[in-house]
Amino acid sequence: VIDIRKLYSDGKVFTYDPGFTSTAACESQITYIDGDEGVLLYRGYPIDQLAEKSSFLEVCYLLANGELPNEGEFKRFEKDITYHTMLHAQFDRFFDGFRRDAHPMAIMVGTVGALAAFYHDSTDINDRKQRTIASHRLIAKMPTIAARAFKYSIGQPFVSPRNELDYASNFLRQCFAVPAEDYKINPVMARALDVFMILHADHEQNASTSTVRLAGSSGANPFACISSGIACLWGPAHGGANEAALNMLEEIGTVDNIPEFIRRVKDPNDDIRLMGFGHRVYKNYDPRATAMQKLCHMVLKEVGAEDNPTLKVAMELEKIALNDEYFVSRKLYPNIDFYSGITLRAMGFPTSMFTVLFAVARTVGWIAQWTEMMEDDSQKIGRPRQVYTGPTLRAYVPVGQRK
Ligand code: ACO
Repeated sequence: VIDIRKLYSDGKVFTYDPGFTSTAACESQITYIDGDEGVLLYRGYPIDQLAEKSSFLEVCYLLANGELPNEGEFKRFEKDITYHTMLHAQFDRFFDGFRRDAHPMAIMVGTVGALAAFYHDSTDINDRKQRTIASHRLIAKMPTIAARAFKYSIGQPFVSPRNELDYASNFLRQCFAVPAEDYKINPVMARALDVFMILHADHEQNASTSTVRLAGSSGANPFACISSGIACLWGPAHGGANEAALNMLEEIGTVDNIPEFIRRVKDPNDDIRLMGFGHRVYKNYDPRATAMQKLCHMVLKEVGAEDNPTLKVAMELEKIALNDEYFVSRKLYPNIDFYSGITLRAMGFPTSMFTVLFAVARTVGWIAQWTEMMEDDSQKIGRPRQVYTGPTLRAYVPVGQRK
């Protein structure tokens, strides 16, 4: 018999909280969410203002350093990041080991984890300077790795970074430029990617960020920690939801199929969910979804696809769900993923790259959270407890005597 009193013997309260719905694991000064009011602030700045006025690299500086940079600080930061965009030449050979049809997220998990094998000189987590270099390397190299994962999957040669370009343009060029053709950056697409990345840059203690913190709490190096975050992000209930949401919208196909789909979502015997809807923290409209919807219209207009049937299904589905008792009573609203898939598809990315783009954008959030943890002396190794429900003490029975 388990003596439950033993669990309290050190005087601490023991809680059972599956999914950590009401347990804070850390203090943080990075991102604030008010889920009831639909508010999201990075270091105090509202997400809609940052999406409208800032740039992704400036937001990276803000998340990593706590303040918006002045001009000189921004220039230095930009120089530091662009200095690190290249990958070790040996690194490219790594990609050859993967099947061409491998999911790019599988490639990301492997290759980002392998960065520790290439950049030993920034794996000493107790050295602040090395931590900073590792952070800059990760922010700088993620688009290069992501673009290579994409190029590899479509059988095209890798495109090297061009550091006179801004972060988003450089990333787009590495994804879409082909040899012997002049690649012209479309400023609307570059801005769309930049805003997409701002909207995804951090979201406090979500599953992947908590994974990064948990991995980091053991003293693991930052490259390994970010790789664990990528692995967690891949799941369809988290970063994979934008891929799942687009697949769902395309499966519904036309507006007249929506009622049957909604009926299935509400059927307790059918376990399908409306992907891109609902959120653990937002019990009101996700403020990122509003910005993403705007972005979606901007991109579709640019490519002349305002009549896109998938967008029509999404808008009608949203309208119906927001007036349906099932969704209203459960406080289920569109989240950022509802419109992001349509947007990324219109920008030319295949579905398998959606979560990769999310990972590129979230890298700075993971790093800021990891750094905050490293600088917080009160943090201990993460070690959740459990409520044991298995067999009580019993004696071993030799195999011949078992029934
Ligand atoms: N469609 C239909 N019903 C839903 C949905 C949905 N998308 N989300 C929750 N519900 C229902 C559940 O069936 C449950 O109903 P019940 O009380 O009758 O059993 C109730 O709402 C509560 O659901 P939980 O799973 O307990 O809610 P939780 O807060 O744990 O889940 C989550 C949050 C995982 C995001 C969920 O809403 C979901 O699966 N959404 C779809 C996937 C998605 O869009 N994920 C992206 C999240 S945002 C991000 O990662 C960037």
